[in-house]
Amino acid sequence: MSELFYITTPIYYVNARPHLGHAYSGIVADVACRYNLMRERETFFLTGTDEHGDKIVRAAKKENISPKAYVDKISNLFKDLCPELEIKYNHFIRTTDSAHIAVVKHILQKIYDSGEIYFSEYEGLYCFGCERFYTERELVDGKCPDHKTEPEVIKESNYFFKMSSYQDWLIDHINNNPDFIHPERYRNEVLSFLSEPLEDLCISRPKTRLRWGISLPFDDNYVTYVWFDALINYISAVGYPDGELFKKFWPHVNHIVAKDILKPHAIYWPIMLKAAGIPLYNRLNVHGYWNVDQSKMSKSLGNVVEPLQVKNKYGLDAFRFFIMRDMVFGLDSSFSEEAIVQRINSDLANDLGNLFSRVLAMAHKYFSGEIPEVDPVVEQELQFGLESNAIKTIDNFENAMVNFEFHKALIAIWEFISRMNKYVDATAPWELAKKKSSRKQLAAVIYNLLEGLRVISGLIYPVMPGTSKTMQKHLGMNPDENYYNLEILKKWGTIKSGTKLPKLVTLFPRVDIKKKELYSYGNNSEHMSLALKPEISMEEFNKIDLRIATVVQAEIIPRAKKLLKIEVDSGKKLTIVAGISEGYTPENIIGKQVIIVANLKPVQIMGILSKGMLLAALDDNICAVGTVDKKIKPGTPLS
Ligand code: MSP
Repeated sequence: MSELFYITTPIYYVNARPHLGHAYSGIVADVACRYNLMRERETFFLTGTDEHGDKIVRAAKKENISPKAYVDKISNLFKDLCPELEIKYNHFIRTTDSAHIAVVKHILQKIYDSGEIYFSEYEGLYCFGCERFYTERELVDGKCPDHKTEPEVIKESNYFFKMSSYQDWLIDHINNNPDFIHPERYRNEVLSFLSEPLEDLCISRPKTRLRWGISLPFDDNYVTYVWFDALINYISAVGYPDGELFKKFWPHVNHIVAKDILKPHAIYWPIMLKAAGIPLYNRLNVHGYWNVDQSKMSKSLGNVVEPLQVKNKYGLDAFRFFIMRDMVFGLDSSFSEEAIVQRINSDLANDLGNLFSRVLAMAHKYFSGEIPEVDPVVEQELQFGLESNAIKTIDNFENAMVNFEFHKALIAIWEFISRMNKYVDATAPWELAKKKSSRKQLAAVIYNLLEGLRVISGLIYPVMPGTSKTMQKHLGMNPDENYYNLEILKKWGTIKSGTKLPKLVTLFPRVDIKKKELYSYGNNSEHMSLALKPEISMEEFNKIDLRIATVVQAEIIPRAKKLLKIEVDSGKKLTIVAGISEGYTPENIIGKQVIIVANLKPVQIMGILSKGMLLAALDDNICAVGTVDKKIKPGTPLS
């Protein structure tokens, strides 16, 4: 590996808001970049948005605004998300940037001049959702595998890139560079794809069909196919062909993508680079898909996870830790709040958090919050292998990080945390504290534990930069210095005796599952959901019969903790079982005007037939019913 590290995420389509999947790719790139900072490498981190093409035009039309106004708006959502998630990029590229457009034209012209692009008539099966032609063999039951719709036959004259003539060269390159596509399963997938004949790539769209794109430099009647445009971002962003950043960082690049866009990155992109006479990228790193509660995340299922909502509920470092620890890079993973809570309580609050508070509490109690002086001989005697264990942990951490095996890197750190907890139990500092004669031993044990915490604080830096800083501050280190530097981390005995330690903090409070409502995902979600529900039409909304009703009777239902049986007058009398007893007694709900859904199918609840639903909101500790701000005749519909 070189001393320079350039990392990229995919550039995201701006036809939808950012979600967990996008956040994951960004956080992976950030973690890899921070790890390379630990190795004192010079790094460059690129992310951005992909803004041309049919999809974008259609999304803008839906909102009744121009494509430009639309892409500006959504691109900002992606950009603003980065600092919220501590994704520290160096450059955010947009494919509508003029510098990018100039490079796309330059490369097209170069490849065209070398005779690798030709003009031809083509009739094929076109999927408008994917904005591409499909071959029969790629369809599933005659339908687009992504959109499940039958592609349309269209005939047009277009420009084609001679990809097929590079097939053998690409197979050789992949075979000769085993790490070119990583992990191996995706390399095998690409090789298997390449065992069938590769077709030439249609790289233009006639302006009669699509205008929102980059005009071909050699024919103004056409715009560039969105993938040909988008892939070039990786070099246009660093100033290809003459920019200093390009000369410095290319081709020391690691691309990060998910499995959905393996083919353009593993096949089109290397061939485009080769045809343009540019060295190939260093490594393509392919991760799996985040599903939610075992199903695919999608707008129509209403289970799209918003990263900011997860962050706001559980904290940024807990979120980053969870996604890096739970997903095995390359495989799919399932997101659920139960799983996050479990990780917070066991790995963060229990293992790391407890160790940290335990050790610092002892340093405060036995040494008045000052790092003790140590006798080197006693310190050695009482090490019980802790130092060599720390060095081994750093080794295991490094091996895993280089291979993008983030979960293994975290497992290595947590094994050391467990080793530290055992060290506390084995040395029993509270016993040593009872005897004046054991003062030197006590000092050595506490010093070693503080050293172990220092190592942990450095190793968690890429995944949890905030917690790393907090730990270092509380270990009396200057948080502005790079204490995550691997060479410094390996030097046992770095913390300075005599340093005053600030007062204690709790790193990760436990999450009380009973108090915190766990959100369920999907359409039957009972509570406010972290996921946005899918859009509905006016027609669908109008199916709901919302009415004003006055509560005329109410009583507690024995054995039901949250339920009240209420009688309402909504023009006619209805019985409703409502889960509002945390906020209302029968006395203070009687007489209130409420909003009900009057046409819900009746259901039996606790032996009572409930014939409607009362609208109420429930947050952590308040239950409030929906009402109107003027008296209204019962039975009046709401619209
Ligand atoms: N614009 C293209 C990429 C061009 S790169 C030159 C595109 N954009 S996208 O908005 O659809 O983003 C796809 C990428 O978002 C995936 O490759 C992955 O990085 C991320 N994810 C989107 N959904 C995901 C999951 N459910 N799980 C994990 N990551 C996924 O394709």
